[in-house]
Amino acid sequence: MSKEIKRVAVFTSGGDAPGMNAALRAVVRSGSYHDLHVFGIKRGYEGMIEGEIVRLERADVGNIIHRGGTFLKTARSEKFMTPEGRKLAYETLLAHDIDACVAIGGNGTFTGAHKFYEEFGIPIIGIPGTIDNDLYGTDLTIGFDTAVNTAIEAVDKIRDTADSHNRLFFIEVMGRHAGFIALNTGIGSGAGYVIIPESVRTIEDLVEELQMNARRKKLFSLVIVAEGSKIGGATQIAQKVQEKLDFYDIRVTIIGHLQRGGSPTAQDRVLASRLGHAAIEGLIAGQKDVMAGVINNEIVYVPLLDAITRTKGPDEDLQHLAEILAL
Ligand code: F6P
Repeated sequence: MSKEIKRVAVFTSGGDAPGMNAALRAVVRSGSYHDLHVFGIKRGYEGMIEGEIVRLERADVGNIIHRGGTFLKTARSEKFMTPEGRKLAYETLLAHDIDACVAIGGNGTFTGAHKFYEEFGIPIIGIPGTIDNDLYGTDLTIGFDTAVNTAIEAVDKIRDTADSHNRLFFIEVMGRHAGFIALNTGIGSGAGYVIIPESVRTIEDLVEELQMNARRKKLFSLVIVAEGSKIGGATQIAQKVQEKLDFYDIRVTIIGHLQRGGSPTAQDRVLASRLGHAAIEGLIAGQKDVMAGVINNEIVYVPLLDAITRTKGPDEDLQHLAEILAL
């Protein structure tokens, strides 16, 4: 029979995402509701290795639901990738009598969490927090909606100047391996073309479309490029297009880390609150080595191994829609 869970440690790891604070708040307050003792580990796995762990009470997570970033701070830990690092991390948990962990992060965080569970058997449950939305087993990850809203706001502003000058803009948004941010930003901002890693569209396809636009005297256009695009980032694509179509007045904007900050949207706050609560309820019910996600608006628990090894791509209908609406 599994040990009764009384002391839970929570941490954020990997790239921060707006809504992580709301998730931490929910974990602490749900834990307190169930009479658990909740601890916060600073700087993700780095802090776990270094023994940076503090008790968190209900009041410690007041006034944070609306803040971007993560008050526990975060890190991408190289040390945790080594067996020695994980052993040190385990010793910290033992020293504080921790019975279970809640890991808030993305693919790298869950890869570490799964390995840690396999090696030491500490029940661990993941909460998907990454702006990329690239985790299998949940329709949405915490931070994605805010990042898309931020990107759309930026594109709206670029649209004004692009239109005034009749310019072609290549706007790069984040998403190392997935095109969710780019596709949703493209549709939401009414962009003329979207380039994502999952697409088979080539530079030649883009050039052909831009040539068609030019024949119709349309020289103002917005092209959204996902950072992980297989045909290059916004700068490289812009160069290639300029070589072929020298009459276009081209500019490039890389939105970058702007997308990672800011106050979380209502959707991210509610999602984070639901998932933080679900993580605690899952642990109490005996869930371990899983991620709490939301599918069709229902809470689900998916094995961490599935979350990290299976892939989820943007909806093909959505990709088709972006093309139809851009015509
Ligand atoms: O995974 C989230 C993400 O923001 C990616 O979209 C981006 O490629 C990466 O993190 C950037 O990481 P860093 O902040 O470490 O440069």
